[in-house]
Amino acid sequence: MSNWVQACGVGDIDAEDVMRFDHGAKTYAIYRGPDDRFYVTDGLCTHEAVHLADGLVIDTIVECPKHNGRFDYTTGRAKGAPVCVDLRTYPVKLEDGKVLVDLAERP
Ligand code: FES
Repeated sequence: MSNWVQACGVGDIDAEDVMRFDHGAKTYAIYRGPDDRFYVTDGLCTHEAVHLADGLVIDTIVECPKHNGRFDYTTGRAKGAPVCVDLRTYPVKLEDGKVLVDLAERP
């Protein structure tokens, strides 16, 4: 079962940038890659729960603003110390200039 939610407009994020998206009790990070594709991950660093939307995006990597931990936001993969737990990623689709994310709970 899907749960597609409108997160933002396509024009709200520049290429190689990230923005925060809050929905319900959770926070997410929306990225626009250098290839103009959009990606969504959980919004908090898995090290100490800092907002990744305040971090730096370089190519397909987001760097946490607190201890410079890095994740590949296209896969959620932690890329080395001090982060060792991957980020959850979410399906994304574009419709009528809007970015939609599927926030359905999955096992
Ligand atoms: S809080 Fe993100 S690397 Fe430490």
